[in-house]
This record gives sequence, structure tokens and C-alpha cells, in this order.
Amino acid sequence: MDVNPDKLNSFIGKMLGDVGAAMNASLMLIGDKLGLYQTLAATGPMNSSELAKATGTSERYVREWLAAQAASGYIEYDAASGKFSMTPEQNMVFGDEDSPVFMGAVGSLVSATFLDESKISEAFKTGNGVGWNRRSECLFCGTARFFRTGYKHHLVQEWLPALDGVVEKLKRGAKVADVGCGHGISTRLMAEAFRQTAKDAELGDRVRFDVQSAKTYPAEGYDLVCFFDCLHDMGDPVGAMKHVRETMADDGTCMLVEPFANDRLEDNLNPIGRIYYAASTVVCTPASLDQEVGMALGAQAGEARLRDVANKGGLTRFRRATETAFNLILEARV
Ligand SMILES: C[S@@+](CC[C@H](N)C(=O)[O-])C[C@H]1O[C@@H](n2cnc3c(N)ncnc32)[C@H](O)[C@@H]1O
Repeated sequence: MDVNPDKLNSFIGKMLGDVGAAMNASLMLIGDKLGLYQTLAATGPMNSSELAKATGTSERYVREWLAAQAASGYIEYDAASGKFSMTPEQNMVFGDEDSPVFMGAVGSLVSATFLDESKISEAFKTGNGVGWNRRSECLFCGTARFFRTGYKHHLVQEWLPALDGVVEKLKRGAKVADVGCGHGISTRLMAEAFRQTAKDAELGDRVRFDVQSAKTYPAEGYDLVCFFDCLHDMGDPVGAMKHVRETMADDGTCMLVEPFANDRLEDNLNPIGRIYYAASTVVCTPASLDQEVGMALGAQAGEARLRDVANKGGLTRFRRATETAFNLILEARV
């Protein structure tokens, strides 16, 4: 077999970058958990002793962590002063939980993939599923924090207004179901945005959380039923759509927030698809296979397959309301 040395070198170079990222994933988690990024961003430039003192951690560990982070390009090092700092851009990604590009939760998500790896390897052999109920706690926390960034900066500002007539209903006071809500970040953001309206309308308790499956929550004539990044996790998404049809008001709207994906695999071979196909392999596909039907849409289902699911559930008016780099926002109506 002829080996092209240039191709080999460039592939090894790529792999070195990937190995470095993988090795540093737990350091990201440590930095986030112990407040190292946040403190460095707020107080830097600092040396290892100063950062250790400010965070109540051990200097020798912090010194090594800082070196690895600087080698990753996640923080800056000034050799003349021996101090480390973060640029505004690095702070937006690692230090500032409220920034539109915060990714500090990634460490928890990666950690969950390793903690649950033996269950997933076993599932590869048996074909059985691994449900959310069997996952490490950090998967729930990491998911909530990871998606919070997008929800906080897009949901009320862009996604709800992109749906036909929904904001007007929410302003008047509407019934909303947030199915598969996880830690309920999206639920709270919507309730807070329309709080005054709800208060004025004397709706009392604005939010109630119930443990229900997508096919069992009670029919209350919802004006809006939302699925944030969860329809593809379900074993029976068509059944979930049929339940929407039965529980939603006739002129109601179903909003599907799904991972951004094109319809064809070859059009998803990019950095976003790489993240989502991996998450799909170890989280979403096993979750769906653990449930009845086990349709296993996968996190890269794409609009055409999602449209088909909605149509089969009786939601025949379907369109892409808007999108971001990470999400498709789909509107489905009767
Ligand atoms: C990726 S998480 C998304 C959580 C939350 N909506 C968010 O955006 O942060 C997928 C969620 O779907 C939920 N889920 C999976 N299958 C479900 C089903 N059949 N009925 C209701 N929820 C389900 C899981 O419990 C999990 O919380």
C-alpha cells in the first residue's frame, strides 16, 4: 500500500490536536468546577500562587493546570511576568456563564460519556438501550447548562417570535407544555419573559413541573407545546406527536427545537455534526432504544425526517421557523 507522507503528517497533526483536546477535557471540568476560569478572568493577570490562594486550591496543581491551559490556547501566559490571564474572548467561552458563547459546561458532558461508557459498550453488543434514568447525574446538569446558553440568548428573542402568532398569545396569557424539560431552564425563561402578563391575568402559579412521559401528560388545550432537544431522544416520537395533537388547542402550535442537521449524512460531516453524532451515539440513540418502539431518530435527524414524524402524528402544517448554528426551530400545527 502506498502511503503519502504529506497526508500522513497532516493526519497525525490533526490527531495531535484532537488528543490534546481530549486530554484537556477533564481539566476544563476542573477549571469550571473550582472557579479557576472565572477567578482568573475576573482578577488576572495572576501567577499560580495568586490563583491558588484566591480559589482555595493547591498551588502545585494550579501551576500544572495553568500550563496545560496555556498550551491549549485557552488562557494567555506572559513569560516576562510569569503571569496568566484571559482575553475577553476566552472569558466569554469559559468564564462568563451568561455570555452568548459560554461553553464551560462541556467538561460535564464529556465526563458523562466516560462515566457511562461501559453501559454503552455493552449496549453496542446487545442492541439494548440505555435510558436517561441510568445516566450519570452530570449528564443532566451538563445538558442543562450547555443548552442554557442558546435558550437564554435565542428563545424569547428569536425563536418564539418566529412562530406564527405565538408571542401575542403568550402576552395575553397562554397554556404552555414544555415536554422533556430536563432541569426546566427553557420553561423558566419563558415564564420569566411573560411573568407580568401572567401576573396581570392572575394565573397564580405560573409553572408546574410533573414527571410524565411525552405520551401521558394531561390534556389541557395547550396553546404551545415545546420539545427542547428531546423529541429525537424518545422511543416513540410519532406517539409523542399524536399526544400533542390530542392535548393541544386546535389552533395551538408545537415548537420542536432540535439539533441543527442537514438531511443527508454527507452534509453533516462538519464540526457541529461531529459533536452531535458523537452525542447521539452515546446519549440520544441509547435513550431512544431503551423505550417502546425504539425509533432512534438520532441527534442528526434533520428536517425531512422530523417533518415525517410530525405528519404521521397528525401535525400536517410544518415549517422551519428559524435556525441557529446549533439548532433547527420547527413549527408544527394541525
Ligand atoms: C437532551 S435532554 C434535553 C432536556 C431539556 N429539554 C433541555 O433542553 O435542556 C433530553 C430529555 O428528554 C427526556 N426524555 C426522553 N424520553 C422522554 C419521553 N419519552 N418522555 C418525556 N421525556 C423524555 C429526558 O429525560 C431528557 O431530560
